[in-house]
Amino acid sequence: MLGNFSYCNPTKLYFGDDSLKFLGNELKKYGDNVLLVYGGGSIKRNGIYEDVIEILRAAGKNVAELPGVMPNPTLQKLYEGIEAARKQRTDMILAVGGGSVCDYAKALSVSVNCSEDPWDKYFIRFEEPECETLPVGCVLTMAGTGSEMNAGAVITNPEKKLKIGHVFADEKIMPRFSILNPKYTLTLPKYQMVAGVYDIFNHICEQYFSGDDDNTSDYISEGLMRSLLHSSRKAVKDPLNYEARSNLMWTATWALNTLVAKGKSCDWMIHMLGQSVGAMTNATHGMTLAAVSLQYYRHILTYALPKFARFAANVWDVCVNGKTEEEIAREGLAAMEGWMKHLGLVMNITELGATKEMIPDLVKGTLILKGGYKVLDESEVAEIFRRSL
Ligand code: NZQ
Ligand code: ZN
Repeated sequence: MLGNFSYCNPTKLYFGDDSLKFLGNELKKYGDNVLLVYGGGSIKRNGIYEDVIEILRAAGKNVAELPGVMPNPTLQKLYEGIEAARKQRTDMILAVGGGSVCDYAKALSVSVNCSEDPWDKYFIRFEEPECETLPVGCVLTMAGTGSEMNAGAVITNPEKKLKIGHVFADEKIMPRFSILNPKYTLTLPKYQMVAGVYDIFNHICEQYFSGDDDNTSDYISEGLMRSLLHSSRKAVKDPLNYEARSNLMWTATWALNTLVAKGKSCDWMIHMLGQSVGAMTNATHGMTLAAVSLQYYRHILTYALPKFARFAANVWDVCVNGKTEEEIAREGLAAMEGWMKHLGLVMNITELGATKEMIPDLVKGTLILKGGYKVLDESEVAEIFRRSL
């Protein structure tokens, strides 16, 4: 049964290879002082920066730049952004980049006028902002996180060895608009492209593998997964295939814009395991998920055989005739493993820099959630990390 819920997603999307032309009109809705936030330089190499700057100039904006937002943005970088935004008296934040840049812009939005330390308030106590927040707009250059249409922000605190995400409850933290041009993703290195693909897949799985009720969200999820498998195979073979890359980008947005979580329970345990690996190693987000996923799913499989068997049949086309539910379920995961290897994903945490000696810290950094089919204890978390080495 679908549970009760409210649904509102205010992010306006512009999708397609001409979508940047709508930026100028959007900018008119906000004040003159724009803080342009971006990453380590990819937008300068592929020409997106020049195009965005030209539109900002034509709109008569006062632009301050905040470059250098790193993958897995840090708390230190957030402090730097708070100072820059206060100095500029920023009216709106324009994020141009991947999920890290979009997340960072949202974290900045709730922190600029906050009188408390944002780490303690938002990432330890998970409170909502009471201060005035700044509007955020995104020009997305990488498909994966869904950050372009959700209220999530993930910040890493290297000193505390913690990487923590907060999904804000208030829709006004979601980007006011996002520009999704699939062509922008064509310059992504293959490693980042496939990490993004797995991030998308895992977002859908985290919302799918929970609960045993019949609900529309799971059927939507199966459709999204099938589309993703198809497009990812095409994109790995032919990375410049616009059709495949545009479908990947659109699937990423729908995988984590709150829709498929509506009316059902969700798990998110793989993200907790992956974030702990990310905090210790600074590895690419999607790869941290790929490296622990199969060990986690094989660990919880027997607690949810009907759902894993459904996944095998409906997503992987596993033939069910004459097989037990467990055989079907295991075949589904084997098919998933084959696809992951075909993409070239990192399948263990050793390759990401994790060691046996880190396991106690990895366990400490893993938040244990209760939404899944099996609530883990710390010894099970340690065992999953050990098997993922
Ligand atoms: O920094 P630049 O130079 O721009 O390079 C980036 C970066 O090195 C590069 N890149 C991005 N677009 C490119 C490109 N290179 C060439 N051409 C392009 N068009 O790719 C690298 C990775 O970028 P990043 O933004 O870090 O990747 P992603 O989009 O995967 O974002 C990861 C962050 O998002 C968080 C993750 O934890 C991680 O911190 N997440 C946010 C979520 C949310 N808001 O809901 C949910 C996710 O589960 C995730 O946790
Ligand atoms: Zn993710």
